[in-house]
Amino acid sequence: MPLTAKSVPRIALVSSLLAAVAGAAVLMAAPASGAASTLGAAAAQSGRYFGTAVAANKLSDQTYVGILNREFNMVTPENEMKIDATEPNQGQFSYGNADRIVAHAKAQGMRVRGHTLAWYSQQPGWMQNMSGSTLRSAMLNHVTQVATHYKGQLYSWDVVNEAFADGNSGGRRDSNLQRTGNDWIEAAFRAARAADPNTKLCYNDYNTDDWGQAKTQGVYRMVQDFKSRGVPIDCVGFQSHFNSNSPVPSNYQTTLSSFAALGVDVQITELDIEGSGSSQASNYQRVVQACMAVARCNGITVWGIRDSDSWRSSGTPLLFDGSGNKKAAYTSVLNALNAGGTNPTDPTTTTTTTTTQNPQPGGCTATYSEGQKWNDRFNGNVTVSGTDNWVVTVTVSSPQKVISTWNTSATWDSSGNVMTARPNGSGNSFGFTIQHNGNWNWPSLTCSTG
Ligand code: XIL
Repeated sequence: MPLTAKSVPRIALVSSLLAAVAGAAVLMAAPASGAASTLGAAAAQSGRYFGTAVAANKLSDQTYVGILNREFNMVTPENEMKIDATEPNQGQFSYGNADRIVAHAKAQGMRVRGHTLAWYSQQPGWMQNMSGSTLRSAMLNHVTQVATHYKGQLYSWDVVNEAFADGNSGGRRDSNLQRTGNDWIEAAFRAARAADPNTKLCYNDYNTDDWGQAKTQGVYRMVQDFKSRGVPIDCVGFQSHFNSNSPVPSNYQTTLSSFAALGVDVQITELDIEGSGSSQASNYQRVVQACMAVARCNGITVWGIRDSDSWRSSGTPLLFDGSGNKKAAYTSVLNALNAGGTNPTDPTTTTTTTTTQNPQPGGCTATYSEGQKWNDRFNGNVTVSGTDNWVVTVTVSSPQKVISTWNTSATWDSSGNVMTARPNGSGNSFGFTIQHNGNWNWPSLTCSTG
């Protein structure tokens, strides 16, 4: 009977592949897997991110920064990119605090969600007093200038924030921007796309979590209309500020999947859930599970780190207490992220191929194996043998970018192409996500003893 590829034992296939690789040193199988120990690493296993709002004035707080750097791989400036912060006087732009947050995020290998270019609230005084075509052109100039300043540096922009009315109308919220004409939202999206063509452009709002609410349906119809007319929109942000008056709706996952079915990504952008103990933990778990079940739910951002950092601190709505200790809600979120998620848009699902890189004279061997692949990114796993005290360099080729890591402590060179990975107490396997930007090459590895 002829041997089919299927009937050849896997190990034989891998061996013959390796035999063809000159200098192959060690045969290893099985990708690194198992539970990750931080929120960002756990989310990265399914190609998602886990983020937090960050306030620039807290970057000098060691406890705050310690948790930030350890747990999160996405950052949203809490107030620093809003209109009153970036254009306090008309035509005078001020980016100091926002730039500080972006620089911190970059240095840590985290990405940034921009928030927000056009909004009825937190407008500087000069804009509040404007109307009509003067306001329309000032708003468009603001969008263009700020999006140009951050061109290519952000993961996504909340182009327009909170433009729909609460209650049963399903229509727009009255504001000076709305009174410039119903097309102000699409005009803002077009200006943002022209200024920064490669950043995902989102519409962001609250009270849009319940599929049965008029406001949710109003936003849905707008996104449907934008997609049908080619208005550039890539994603919808669900703020998801929950409390007993505004609980996690039972149809939350339906809301996320229904928007995703329009051909946009969905993101949970400002999550906080008031409460404590196991009831808060189970509400958080439901939200995370809903995102994990929807292929186009890219990630989750909580609106602050410790309860004391929250804009609603009396409701203790976050994952860490005022002293920075993990709450029950933290554990339920981590477990739900580690449980993994279906990703039906994954074109290739998990075919795991293993190879060994060139001979590594440093007294240890780093073995690369492919992880999951998506349209825009792929995971890689590395297993190290020969020492517990390893230093592995991972070199990606331009225009690839490592966008998250797990089970390692990593630093980058100034080009951003060479990552140096060291143990962080999680063992001798680590992994990363590479945004490939069209280049699917595997990274090259070297291993030496630290
Ligand atoms: C909040 C900030 O957390 C506060 O520090 C600030 O005083 C007011 O704004 N929806 C949004 C966020 O889109 O920008 C808001 O952030 C919370 C509600």
